[in-house]
Amino acid sequence: MDTTNIQNDELILSQRILSGINSSHYQRIGAFVQNEYGKILSAHKESSSLSTLCDFTFGNPHNMALPTFLSSFHKYIEPLNVGWYGYCMATNPNTEPSRQIVALNLSKRFSPLSFQSEDIYLVKGNFGGLYTCISMLLNPNDEVIFPIPAWFCYEAMIISCQGISIEVNINLNTFELNLDEIKNKITDRTKILIINTPHNPTGKIYSSTTLELLSNILLEEYERRQQKYGHQAQPIWLVSDEAYNNILFNNNKFYSPAEFYPYTFLCYTYAKTLLNPGIRLGYIALSEKVPLNYRLLFQKYLPQTLIVNGFQVPDCVTQYLVQDIEKLAISIDIENLEKKLNSVLDILSSIGYEIPVKPEGTFYILIKSPLEDDQAFCRLLSKYNVLCLPGAVLAIPGYFRISLTANEDMIERSREGFKQAYEEAMSSNSNQAIQSDNK
Ligand SMILES: Cc1ncc(COP(=O)(O)O)c(C=O)c1O
Repeated sequence: MDTTNIQNDELILSQRILSGINSSHYQRIGAFVQNEYGKILSAHKESSSLSTLCDFTFGNPHNMALPTFLSSFHKYIEPLNVGWYGYCMATNPNTEPSRQIVALNLSKRFSPLSFQSEDIYLVKGNFGGLYTCISMLLNPNDEVIFPIPAWFCYEAMIISCQGISIEVNINLNTFELNLDEIKNKITDRTKILIINTPHNPTGKIYSSTTLELLSNILLEEYERRQQKYGHQAQPIWLVSDEAYNNILFNNNKFYSPAEFYPYTFLCYTYAKTLLNPGIRLGYIALSEKVPLNYRLLFQKYLPQTLIVNGFQVPDCVTQYLVQDIEKLAISIDIENLEKKLNSVLDILSSIGYEIPVKPEGTFYILIKSPLEDDQAFCRLLSKYNVLCLPGAVLAIPGYFRISLTANEDMIERSREGFKQAYEEAMSSNSNQAIQSDNK
């Protein structure tokens, strides 16, 4: 047997990858999945009682895939020419209809902002799009600012690209961006700002006023750099994570940061509206507001970034599918999602839960935990077969997150569990209050 020393992971694995894996946001979600979520799932699997769980933890599907999606999938499996299953970059003409319709639909939706098909890059969802932007732009010790709570992988991606992650808090009363804090955290080394709207986990859509003010801050910074560095000055790049930009409630209007700030990468994934995150599909789009010299630069280097990162382009059949998804507007039923949102809100508010801000988009609700320790409260919920994500895992302790991708049956069954856990939490709170009064 090979007795090579494998006691020390660092002797074998790259420091770059280990630092990403060891980053705090990634570690917190990893520990939760392994220790709490994973254990509950396997205990229920062993006792064949998985179907009794009401799982609101992650944005995974709990219904069968969309038939319209499947029929397009079947259609494009059949090759139409010899290049059908060839390497599938922009040079493969079979991808052109998909990129064209994305550019057309984005131009219609965000008019007068316009997009050209050369500036649409099909990528493996927002995991792929975000990592492509970050890895293409960052040099060691460049700083990336992002608001917390945040999606779990920003920090890991930044650190594994040898950047420095700079967190800014959101306003916890309104869930709005804290623009002053963003401004204060900008330095000469700030290369990227990541903005996620509609925001996971708060469900907040940033208003046009907020985005305009944000753009002014970034443009002022660019002006300052131009005065200081002359022609060498570079803007801060805004990486706009718009995973949920088609999941809007109550006719709320969505604005893309790309409408306000020219130096923006718009990142979109189809996994949310199709509810199939196992299919890796999305795009990065640059609008015509991005100065032409930059668009030409990225036309040259972005596809090559995808190649050197390990050919991170979606499989050919999924790339062809984009034209149907866009043309036929294939999507989960957003009205039905909104009904689920309202049922969950009704259930929770009738029990007494505090819902700080009603979500405006995404498929998440952030609820105040009745126990100060949100992880303890989520454990209590799991005793009643209701699984939710503790806020502490997402860097927002004192809250817990519900994912509305749970099916209607789970929502109805969860009522009793939410009620019993709430009552148990409230009585433990009042016991504690009595004990501390008696001290
Ligand atoms: C805010 C945010 N960004 C990015 C992603 C990654 O999206 P995908 O898995 O479609 O690549 C997610 C997925 O949950 C997300 O919530």
